[in-house]
Amino acid sequence: MASLKKSRFKVVAFRRLLPVVVITLLGVLLLIFLLRTNSTLNFVTRSSDEVVEDNKLSYNYSEFRDHLPHQNELSISLEKRNQLPPRNRDQYPNLASDRIVIVLYVHNRPQYLQVVVQSLSRVVGISETILIVSHDGYFEGMNKIVEGIKFCQVKQIFAPYSPHLFSNSFPGVSPRDCKEKDDATNKHCEGNPDQYGNHRSPKIVSLKHHWWWMMNTVWDGLQETRSHSGHILFIEEDHFIFPNAYRNLQLLIALKPKKCPDCYAANLAPSDVKSQGEGWESLIAERMGNVGYAFNRTVWRKIHRKAREFCFFDEYNWDITMWATVYPSFGHPVYTLRGPRTSAIHFGKCGLHQGQGDKNACIDNGVVNIQVEESDKVANIKSEWEVQVYKHQAGYQAGFKGWGGWGDERDRQLCLNFSKIYHLGGNRPRS
Ligand SMILES: *[C@@H]1O[C@H](CO)[C@@H](O)[C@H](O)[C@H]1NC(C)=O
Ligand SMILES: *[C@@H]1O[C@H](CO)[C@@H](O)[C@H](O)[C@H]1NC(C)=O
Ligand SMILES: *[C@@H]1O[C@H](CO)[C@@H](O)[C@H](O)[C@H]1NC(C)=O
Repeated sequence: MASLKKSRFKVVAFRRLLPVVVITLLGVLLLIFLLRTNSTLNFVTRSSDEVVEDNKLSYNYSEFRDHLPHQNELSISLEKRNQLPPRNRDQYPNLASDRIVIVLYVHNRPQYLQVVVQSLSRVVGISETILIVSHDGYFEGMNKIVEGIKFCQVKQIFAPYSPHLFSNSFPGVSPRDCKEKDDATNKHCEGNPDQYGNHRSPKIVSLKHHWWWMMNTVWDGLQETRSHSGHILFIEEDHFIFPNAYRNLQLLIALKPKKCPDCYAANLAPSDVKSQGEGWESLIAERMGNVGYAFNRTVWRKIHRKAREFCFFDEYNWDITMWATVYPSFGHPVYTLRGPRTSAIHFGKCGLHQGQGDKNACIDNGVVNIQVEESDKVANIKSEWEVQVYKHQAGYQAGFKGWGGWGDERDRQLCLNFSKIYHLGGNRPRS
């Protein structure tokens, strides 16, 4: 009896509540509709991109599955992992408001990564910020090293379309693919050769895909960084970072607007990767380097607008692609600001660079031969210094045709699609 009464009471209560529920629902729907219209209007009437675009970004790009290759289980599980919150938040609950986010992008050299992580653990100020490690797919050894990091908030992301995750379909190798110098019409195989007649190699295209996916994901996708208004520093698994890197970078970024209005970025290291700096009493403005570069969202928007240039240039290296197509398309010289002593070093395997003696930073069995001197342990940039500008530096520039390796229409489309996934209305890249 009691239970019958109870349920009858429930039914009556529900009937009474129904109109309230319906009205509330309608109200919420109306509100959502108004908000949406409003943000669309905002977008049309306001030209300042940052804030407005952020409203329209969405990390969960399930709406854009049609624009991306069919995923397998591993790929889907990695994408889910990318949405996990950062680790070490209980130990470092407060990020500094003026933080420079650090993004470390890695492939599969655990011995190197170990050295880089050790160098990062000694960087003064690193606990003020978050470290994002972007993996080119999934390698257990790499993952383990990052899970051991204790010195700051850390988040791992895994490129879910990395070729090695796909064992018999694009972006991996698919059985129908043309190989090497195959003639597609004779062999009835799939693929477009590059300008030198070679078909795609998944190993070779992996890095450029990863870099572009990572850039799009960090700036426009991740909850942790998509509304970050400051600079983001990018480093790689073979860059040794000096203890003064973070503090020096903060100084460079603060000095940049006044000292070098033409500088798009700040760098930890000279663009000539063999140089460790001039040791002068001055700042240096020079062409963008690929070791420890940091820039802000304004610059990212400019880069993102050049997605076609980036994705359709027949060159498999992301950095050469940037130098030969993207930067020249800005219409101004693209300088970066740095100090006269390097705060990062690109190292390689000992004995690979023949004829250069042992001056080059290198690593053997996990032991690295880099000397960290006292002056590399504290900020060593002075705000009263002038800026020396290197004009007409040698290096890749507009007119270079590319080394090839990026001729397959599918790679070009995938790359272009990566630049759309976080922008609602995925068909139209808006910047
Ligand atoms: C990219 O998106 C286009 C348009 O939706 C689609 O036709 C194409 O298959 C996608 N390409 C790749 C490689 O994902
Ligand atoms: C994205 O959202 C959809 C629907 O809201 C959900 O079914 C899906 O699991 C989400 N995807 C990921 C990778 O979290
Ligand atoms: C970002 O950097 C560029 C180049 O240094 C600068 O012109 C721009 O004002 C900066 N944007 C913001 C929002 O600070």
